[in-house]
Amino acid sequence: MTTAVPQTTVDSLLAACLRNAQPALWSNPARQAQPAAALPALGRTISLDDTHAAAARLARFAGLLAEVFPELAATRGVVESPLLPADLLQPALGWAEGQGRLFIKADHSLPVAGSIKARGGMHEVLEFAEGLALQHGLVEPCGDYRALATPAAREVLGRYQVAVGSTGNLGMSIGVVASALGFQATVHMSADAKEWKKDRLRQRGVQVVEHAGDYERAVAAGRAEAASNPLCHFVDDEQSFSLLLGYSAAALHLQKQLAEQGVAVDAEHPLIVYLPCGVGGAPAGITFGLRQVLGPHVFCFFAEPVQSPCFMVQMMAGQGEHPSVYDWGLTNRTEADGLAVPRASLLAAELMRPLLSGVFTVADDTLFAHLVRVLDALGERIEPSAAAGFSGPAMLTSTAAGQAWLRASGVGAAFAHATHLVWTTGGLLVPDAQYQGFVQRGRAVLAAQA
Ligand SMILES: Cc1ncc(COP(=O)(O)O)c(C=O)c1O
Repeated sequence: MTTAVPQTTVDSLLAACLRNAQPALWSNPARQAQPAAALPALGRTISLDDTHAAAARLARFAGLLAEVFPELAATRGVVESPLLPADLLQPALGWAEGQGRLFIKADHSLPVAGSIKARGGMHEVLEFAEGLALQHGLVEPCGDYRALATPAAREVLGRYQVAVGSTGNLGMSIGVVASALGFQATVHMSADAKEWKKDRLRQRGVQVVEHAGDYERAVAAGRAEAASNPLCHFVDDEQSFSLLLGYSAAALHLQKQLAEQGVAVDAEHPLIVYLPCGVGGAPAGITFGLRQVLGPHVFCFFAEPVQSPCFMVQMMAGQGEHPSVYDWGLTNRTEADGLAVPRASLLAAELMRPLLSGVFTVADDTLFAHLVRVLDALGERIEPSAAAGFSGPAMLTSTAAGQAWLRASGVGAAFAHATHLVWTTGGLLVPDAQYQGFVQRGRAVLAAQA
């Protein structure tokens, strides 16, 4: 694979913004209004049936999850987040009249792991556990999975290891769930990972391996170590179908939430979804699910830090290329630790080719300003990565590229009745001292803009 930057195919203005780490918007010329029901990715195809299978697996484990995680007792083991109207935030974001309505999908409050990564991470650990449980006769197919909480079952699962490479939040999700089920759990953390996330995992009996390099290096180290242990399952954030399908199950729940809140999704009422993106698995899984269940009038955009736009450079590159942000002279340094990824998942990128509407980038200072606006208007505590989506509506209305997309897609004509959904992807577990630091920085950014 080459890593050449495709100068000839890129709008030169966009390329200049990218290189200079200025916010930019890329829209996808290959998006299809009516994509095939089964889509190819890395040599296999996936469809809505796979999303339903993931949702069914999560449901089969709900009883067990409620037993091993006291915080899930109230929801009977269901790990879900609310859909919150965010009208109060619209003035702070500078919205004009006629821009439609803003909602947030509050994955920052997802229990157990505190981030969007709980969805995929939990699903993959449960899929591994289910395979072993059936193989060892610990449960009957579709039987009562609470049997896995018994000491005898935990002893069997404890012979196996689950490993993962992460910038922090996937590690949190995999580590916490795997160790709660009795697995040996190992998390390879990139240099970006925050100390408190490592401490929290260690307190739960998870082995944390610290790497001086970036996310890609942490994943590679984990993959290599796992290859030498036949009893180790490596959760591969760069190419895992199980992770991606776990994320995609969110679409089924969101579909119900939209209906409950009377939000229509049709040609007159487009739904525009803004999703923070790291390697791409989480936003791609959700986009895959949403496009399957909601059809052509849902438009998904990924949001990345200006120094880590790995998904944007991947989508701009030709087939067979796998560029990194370093190829563009960028540093991959960002306070949005969950999004600090230099090279996109090829699984996510291939799957998104016919589905995604575009990708935009956000400066770190803007993330902190959004974090404070969300606190002040809604009282919600999010982490910097989770704030990336809030720049989406302004990128559409206030940039030439956004306005061109609004015209070309037809969304502009229905904008007054649009629903904007910003996916807030993490924050619940951020310790207070760290959070207050985020707020201080955000207030300083806002004061400098006043
Ligand atoms: C808070 C948060 N948001 C978004 C993402 C992006 O997920 P992905 O890396 O699958 O694109 C991450 C990844 O760790 C994250 O931690």
